[in-house]
Amino acid sequence: MAEGKAVEENNKGSRIPGFYKRSPGERLAEIALRAGLTAEEQSAILGNNGLSLEGADHMIENVLGIYGLPLAVALNFIVNGRDVLVPMVVEEPSIVAGASFMARLARPSGGFFAHTTPPEMIGQIQVLDLPNPEIARMRVLEAEEELLAEAATIDPVLQRLGGGPRALEVRLIDASAIGPFLVVHLIYDVRDAMGANAVNTACERLAGKIEQITGGRAHLRILSNLADRRLARAHCTIRLDQLAFGEFSAEEVRDGIIEAWAFAAADPYRAATHNKGILNGVDAVVVATGNDWRAIEAGAHAYAARHGRYTSLSSWGKDAQGNLTGTLEMPLAVGVVGGATKVHPTARAALKILGVQNAQELAEVIVSVGLAQNLAALRALATEGIQRGHMNLHARQVAIAAGAQGEMIERLARQLVADKTVRIDRAQELLNEWKELS
Ligand code: MEV
Repeated sequence: MAEGKAVEENNKGSRIPGFYKRSPGERLAEIALRAGLTAEEQSAILGNNGLSLEGADHMIENVLGIYGLPLAVALNFIVNGRDVLVPMVVEEPSIVAGASFMARLARPSGGFFAHTTPPEMIGQIQVLDLPNPEIARMRVLEAEEELLAEAATIDPVLQRLGGGPRALEVRLIDASAIGPFLVVHLIYDVRDAMGANAVNTACERLAGKIEQITGGRAHLRILSNLADRRLARAHCTIRLDQLAFGEFSAEEVRDGIIEAWAFAAADPYRAATHNKGILNGVDAVVVATGNDWRAIEAGAHAYAARHGRYTSLSSWGKDAQGNLTGTLEMPLAVGVVGGATKVHPTARAALKILGVQNAQELAEVIVSVGLAQNLAALRALATEGIQRGHMNLHARQVAIAAGAQGEMIERLARQLVADKTVRIDRAQELLNEWKELS
């Protein structure tokens, strides 16, 4: 889709030139206008009316207070033809700017194209103490219909929404420590939920029946975070004419990115960092929307090692015209109902900014952000290196840590970068010198 067309079709576009130069208040006003945020939702984003202490106290145990993190918005994203403003919660500099910039490079070729498989989670029931595990396996498979029917009665709401149990798989595992045992997989469509509660409840309920059927002992009954039936995939094309910058030609940038990806594809040491870069973007949206980022991390890394060797979750290459092409595939167990997504006022406001209708649309945006984030890292690494971009923002953090306030933060940060010494001791030294002079 051409850039102009995508923006015209949706006057709540995600291109906002000069956005970064505005104050946080002006930025929020602009986003509120585009996303139709109420005064209450705006105040939830500002933190005034976000998670209350009382709400926090209901969420986890032994609560003392509420921990703050920056909430920003990434711009320029088009996902499946729709302009999307992407809320991100993260403490690391350069992530939001990197994602926004790469989304801009992707716009002339239509942005990101993403899809998801059905939201099917896997619940595991471990069955021990079996006289004959093979026969037990057959018995569970014979009883599949009966077991699924029982599981279907557990959550009538989910059933009504079109979700529910889909299938059983039975695996035989021979563990050197304890010998052979069975693992029953309950495949469960959780629709718009993350699904942990629904799946865990169903596994616990089926355990007794499985014991009866097999004559064994049902031990663990818990969801698997290797959600490899709930995948999100994205691809994008970056036109060659978008790639040149500074002293780097478009071909150099493109080939450098492909070489960087090949390193990650071949080497687990590099792949871990490469995938961390993808998760920089993924997690920031996962956190902003109140989802479980540990589950996403666990699933991503396990999926990256699914063939027995840990590798890159993304791939980069070129098309017949020489344009850069990228793909990303990963499990994404995220929800838009249940858990913090519904009870955390800021997470609700973040979902409204995203304008997603269901969990699958949310996953489609998140996987696109992951791909953009990966591109941002590879483009920097393959050209000028990561530190230059990082340093400007890092210098601001160092200036604040050294005690700078107001306009002094920017002045001190600029000086530290110019001196190529972004260190707290130097920042304090400069601050003291300037104080003595004034
Ligand atoms: C830093 O948070 C992420 C990167 O290390 C990712 C990468 O190396 O691809 C820059």
